[in-house]
Amino acid sequence: MRIIKYDDIMSAKNQGRKKVVAHSASLVSPYARETALRFGIEIVENLSIKREENNMRKPFIAGNWKMNKTNRETVKLLNNLKPLVSDAGDVDIMVAPPYTSLTLAAEILTDNNIMLGAQNMHQEESSAYTGEITADMLIEAGCSWVILGHSERRKYFGCSDELVNKKLKKALSKGLNPIVCVGEQLEEREAGNTFEILRRQVTEGLKEINDPVTIAYEPVWAIGTGKTASPEQADDAHKFIREMLADIYNPEIAEDIRILYGGSVKPTNISELMAKKNIDGGLIGGASLNAESFSQIVKF
Ligand code: 13P
Repeated sequence: MRIIKYDDIMSAKNQGRKKVVAHSASLVSPYARETALRFGIEIVENLSIKREENNMRKPFIAGNWKMNKTNRETVKLLNNLKPLVSDAGDVDIMVAPPYTSLTLAAEILTDNNIMLGAQNMHQEESSAYTGEITADMLIEAGCSWVILGHSERRKYFGCSDELVNKKLKKALSKGLNPIVCVGEQLEEREAGNTFEILRRQVTEGLKEINDPVTIAYEPVWAIGTGKTASPEQADDAHKFIREMLADIYNPEIAEDIRILYGGSVKPTNISELMAKKNIDGGLIGGASLNAESFSQIVKF
């Protein structure tokens, strides 16, 4: 059972949100209620937010641990997480720990409902690329998923659309399931270029690709900042991406492709996001580093 606490109200206040949504099964602490009243924040209770009925895509919640968790911490987090999500029901769950933890994580995750992914991979088969890692290595370590083109890879490690495309081709040829990340920076959004950026990233990233791939829309300004895109902003971007996918593949395939949202997703905002027609899941950073919060997101 989730409890809406003082912190939830304060984070809504700090983000300028006027509403905190409580699941039907949530409790609201008296202090949270008092604080909400003080700051004029409405607590919407007993609102069972449902996914739109015409969204038949299976929800997918993935945790990108980024550069966090040693082996010892990985064991602890996964052992805490497993029982919390074992009854999660009809949702795909994936975690992407750092490379050093993958083999260990694969051992812990045998025979349960959590899939394993990596955060990046090199596009070549094998060669002299110090510090890099291949698709075969990930597969042998137990990964079935790989995140490609994350904005942090694009920003700090020179990952271009062309490179995303090469990595994607390699991952697919090896049978890995990719999640291709796209998303605009703050200046690009403010300049009204969001859709243009998304168009370029999707078209170039998916060039000559025939297999359907999962997409993650992660507006860079919402990553790790506590500023979530509003459900409407996210849904608009997802809708735009889905229209592009209909051109790239065909409308039927585009309808089946899952588009995840990423950027400051928390237990308190996941339900509103998931209620949107084109939002099929979340790629979670910070909140995936804690078993309790990640499991609450999984059970949105
Ligand atoms: P946060 O959830 O920490 O904002 O990170 C999002 C992200 O980049 C997931 O890939």
